Amino acid sequence: MNQVNQYIKENRQRFLDELFELIRIPSVSARPENNPDMLSMARALKDSLLAAGADKAEVMKTSGQPLVFGSKIVDPALPTVLVYGHYDVQPAEPLDLWDSPPFEPEVRDGRIWARGADDDKGQLFMHVKAFEFMVKTAQLPCNIKFMIEGEEEVGSPSLKKFCRENTELLKADVILVSDTTMIASDIPSVTVGLRGLSYMEVELTGPNRDLHSGLFGGAVVNPVNALCKMIASLTNENNEITIKGFYDDVMVLSREERDEMAKAPFDLEEYKAELNIDEVDGEKGYSSLERTGIRPSLDVNGIWGGYIAEGAKTILPSKAYAKISMRLVPNQVSHNIDKLFEEHFKSIAPPGVKVEVRSLHGGQGYVSPIDTVAYKAASKAIEQTFGKKPIPTRSGGSIPIISDFEEVLGIKSILLGFGLESDAIHSPNENYPLENFFNGIETIPWFFKFYAEMNG
Ligand code: BES
Ligand code: MN
Ligand code: MN
Repeated sequence: MNQVNQYIKENRQRFLDELFELIRIPSVSARPENNPDMLSMARALKDSLLAAGADKAEVMKTSGQPLVFGSKIVDPALPTVLVYGHYDVQPAEPLDLWDSPPFEPEVRDGRIWARGADDDKGQLFMHVKAFEFMVKTAQLPCNIKFMIEGEEEVGSPSLKKFCRENTELLKADVILVSDTTMIASDIPSVTVGLRGLSYMEVELTGPNRDLHSGLFGGAVVNPVNALCKMIASLTNENNEITIKGFYDDVMVLSREERDEMAKAPFDLEEYKAELNIDEVDGEKGYSSLERTGIRPSLDVNGIWGGYIAEGAKTILPSKAYAKISMRLVPNQVSHNIDKLFEEHFKSIAPPGVKVEVRSLHGGQGYVSPIDTVAYKAASKAIEQTFGKKPIPTRSGGSIPIISDFEEVLGIKSILLGFGLESDAIHSPNENYPLENFFNGIETIPWFFKFYAEMNG
């Protein structure tokens, strides 16, 4: 594996050129008009897997976007690593906030700037290139499978069913995923916890049409006013969520576990400066890292209704809407939370408005133990590249399909992410430091080596 640095040095520019080809395809899963791009993207990835040395690679149908599967079986007696990633990206809008066009990747200040540069095209491509290195230098120490989906950013609606129908094809000993962050470019970490999610949309209906706000205002319930009050009451003065039963299943961490977590480096001043905010706030009694890592949260993702175009229009709107997400922690169950939310939200509506609540998507959180072969292999691999051991961290983000993998396939995942929180994923000016990209390509083959050795 020692030649991996040399291999990266010799192929640096080609790796970037190839990644940029993939980034140029605007594979936005949320937009039906990008459906043809999803197929082009899947085909291009299939070709890269074959070029890298896969025995077989194919674009497979699902009930939604196509999925790319590839594999190289060295010896059925050896362990098998299943690499999971997603080729779909979030919408790039608002476009005017980007310093360079989102689907025209470029390198500036040592970073790749583009939608998908990190999440997850940049991170998944590290695996394709690490695989290429292992094949070309005849050092692939175990079997490898790739499963790359095109619907992660919309909640992976088809993947669970795909897994159920393809358990034999997906048989593996561990799932390896690079779709998370590390603490800093020089402070490596392995994500050992992900939050779950319940994503709701609410619709309030007041009068049967927008009304004159002078003739009716003050006498008829305004659904936008009502929605604001209802949302405001979802958290109390301690920023605790007021939905009855919401915290019932929350796993409580011991003082020791919390003290252990607090050892991870975190600079609050830097955090605030990076976001240009003067203060942080959240659930009383918890640190910022705990608020995202081990505690649930509730956020309005969008709210609309009434007149929002230029100038003034004096109306009392008929409708009001909001999208509200709740990040969950172990052992909260997403569909139970959906139900609690719906009952609670309906119960707090004032008379005079009708309320509809819809669940858009969701999933369970995930915790991965650190006493596994996969964690130990990841830790050694990281030490090899970075010269220090990784810190186990709990992330606030979600990859709901990870807990489904465990449920349906019975396989645990190892979250070996190389992104940074400052990579602006889902935001304008998403970027990925070249250092992280190449360090990822360097680390992955070591993971394979140590994982195969420790399993053998
Ligand atoms: N890669 C992210 C999740 C992530 C990022 C986890 C950084 C940990 C650290 C993933 O693509 C994502 O954005 N997930 C969505 C959930 C999905 C159901 C839309 C999320 O967390 O909002
Ligand atoms: Mn992702
Ligand atoms: Mn994402």
